Amino acid sequence: VSEIARVKNFNMIQMGKHQAETWYFSPYPVEYAYTDVLYLCEFCLSYYGSSRQLERHRLHCQLQHPPGNEIYRDDVLSFFEIDGRKQRTWCRNLCLLSKLFLDHKTLYYDVDPFLFYCMTERDEFGYHLIGYFSKEKESSENYNLACILTLPQYQRMGYGRVLIQFSYELSKVEERTGSPEKPLSDLGLLSYRAYWTETIVELLLTTTEDITIEEISQHTSITTQDILHTLQNIGALRYYRGQHIICLGDKVIEQFERNKQKNRRSILSEKLHWKPTH
Ligand code: COA
Ligand code: NA
Repeated sequence: VSEIARVKNFNMIQMGKHQAETWYFSPYPVEYAYTDVLYLCEFCLSYYGSSRQLERHRLHCQLQHPPGNEIYRDDVLSFFEIDGRKQRTWCRNLCLLSKLFLDHKTLYYDVDPFLFYCMTERDEFGYHLIGYFSKEKESSENYNLACILTLPQYQRMGYGRVLIQFSYELSKVEERTGSPEKPLSDLGLLSYRAYWTETIVELLLTTTEDITIEEISQHTSITTQDILHTLQNIGALRYYRGQHIICLGDKVIEQFERNKQKNRRSILSEKLHWKPTH
């Protein structure tokens, strides 16, 4: 793709009741190259150059939720699992949309090898998409997440953390460890670091016995490598009398307590109804 084509193509998207600024180029068909605002159907993710066209589409669009199985439901959120091979158009539309907020990923057309886990919020009009992550059906590298997005209108509200948590809940059911595909974006890395730190610190603070890195990994499905990096990052790996020990500093514990106060949304594992199919 030429440099010129890589310039961000739209200024804004309009989706449901939200408008949001775009961040990057996404390879929507060239006939949309001169539109300033892209109008998306929030349910089928098809796109239009004008609000009138979108309104016409909305008159006959039947979809009220992502086209897959609902595998999680609590009082607010529902997750749907969508097979890229069975719902190619919908998944390609999702990838095109997410490329507007991703600098480096190149998955748009070959959606067949992926499952898409879409998080929605329910109301009387339907299941509104908040964000999603994709996951390879078979990952040779033990990745449990390929691409993650919180739609811009929902960012910085704790949903990215919920998506990450969900990816590890799936790994727990699979009885495997997993790690996100690299490279991560800056925002992706920040979100993962925050999740890893909180999850590991919580486990360490609630465990009375000595615990090894291997055991932390079994409890959380986080890889031993990601655990080691996290512990190093927060200065919790010490060398003492000839061996490595884990020791949480006061600052780390204070930060953890502060985060607890935020009372954030969390996945309830008993509300996940899912079996791995691959
Ligand atoms: N600045 C600083 N820290 C940030 C941040 C930002 N813009 N966004 C996330 N974080 C960190 C914070 O520690 C935050 O916790 P806090 O709000 O309690 O401080 C933590 O990550 C989780 O934030 P959360 O609100 O759960 O994340 P989100 O819903 O905004 O989603 C992404 C995070 C990465 C999914 C979102 O930024 C996104 O979709 N980005 C574009 C796509 C992308 O880069 N994906 C990753 C690569 S595949
Ligand atoms: Na444009």
